[in-house]
Amino acid sequence: MLCLEIERKYKLVTGREHLQMIVLGLETSCDETAAAVVDGTGKILSHSVLSQAIEHQPYGGVVPEIAARSHLSHLDKLVTAAMTSAGINYNDIAGVAATGGPGLIGGILVGVMTAKAIAAVHNIPFLAVNHLEGHALTARLTDGVKFPYLLLLVSGGHCQLLVVQGVGSYHRLGTTLDDAAGEVFDKVAKMLGLGYPGGPAIELAAQSGDAGRFNLPRPMKGRPGCNFSFSGLKTAVRQTVEMMPPGELVKKDVSDLAASFQMALIESVSDRMAHALAMFRTEYPHGKSFVVSGGVAANTVLRATLKEQCAKDGLLFVAPPVDLCTDNAVMIAWAGLERLRLGLTDPLSFKPQPRWPLDPNASAAHGVGTKD
Ligand code: KG4
Ligand code: ZN
Repeated sequence: MLCLEIERKYKLVTGREHLQMIVLGLETSCDETAAAVVDGTGKILSHSVLSQAIEHQPYGGVVPEIAARSHLSHLDKLVTAAMTSAGINYNDIAGVAATGGPGLIGGILVGVMTAKAIAAVHNIPFLAVNHLEGHALTARLTDGVKFPYLLLLVSGGHCQLLVVQGVGSYHRLGTTLDDAAGEVFDKVAKMLGLGYPGGPAIELAAQSGDAGRFNLPRPMKGRPGCNFSFSGLKTAVRQTVEMMPPGELVKKDVSDLAASFQMALIESVSDRMAHALAMFRTEYPHGKSFVVSGGVAANTVLRATLKEQCAKDGLLFVAPPVDLCTDNAVMIAWAGLERLRLGLTDPLSFKPQPRWPLDPNASAAHGVGTKD
């Protein structure tokens, strides 16, 4: 069964003054099917997200085949719901944006083909949006952040520190050499029997845990540069679990281990961030803001740590609201709008890109399973 969450937390704005430059956005790159409408002033006219979490829960992670079929079954009605919520019809929209990558190819194909069909039938521009650019530019919609800014993108598929120099212009300072931060949250949650998605479950369990009980490694801490690595931490948690008495873990052990793991991961991220802040200060003296985005940015302990770090460094800390940090289509519509304003539209021959780095000039990070 699917959990339907049509979110309408935002005031619907349907006045004619906002009807210029309205963009419909679609997101289908992972396990959320989403459609949203955003106008040129940054107002969110509709924002619908259909989570597939319950469908993937039995497997402890996203199953690509299930995800693709689910997007196919639900995207049409989600688009209709988003258009109806916004109170507009296709004549009112200036463009249609869809995630063109990176992500799971089956889902991306569904979103891209739907957007292309809408663009072709209504004779409007098509915009292929890089999912990571969606996360990266959200803070400009929510907080009007000016370029350049330092970005920590932490999600289920990515963990990167980047300087956002402009639309389509990124300088990657560091990336993960193995797992993404959210991926590790999910895997550790599975080891602790906390279910999927793991991030929120670990954060909740950690609230009643003792973060000092287990001495887990802080990967990369003290090393130069801004790259991340989390597989050693994941292995250390597994070994700790294996040393526990056989059978189901008791609640106290689960919460202490969740808290110790969360603290270790955050300290590792914070160490990398310190290096990025130093680089940003030197190379971009006019930059004033730091932005955290992606699903893991929902973690309140991580947010508080990074906020404190920024305050010490004199940078403005910006974290979009949680429902705009996790996967959504508002960020795709907004990135589409930013691109449309610059005339950066895409032909209907655009091919979905399962791998699509934001900074094509970044040298390859050396590690097992490097993603970006
Ligand atoms: O950005 P997102 O929605 O999808 C991807 O593009 O990957 O991120 C999903 C990830 C999942 O791994 C999930 O466990 C993690 O974000 N996450 C969290 C929290 N909420 C979601 N991780 C840590 N703490 C949270 N509160
Ligand atoms: Zn994402």
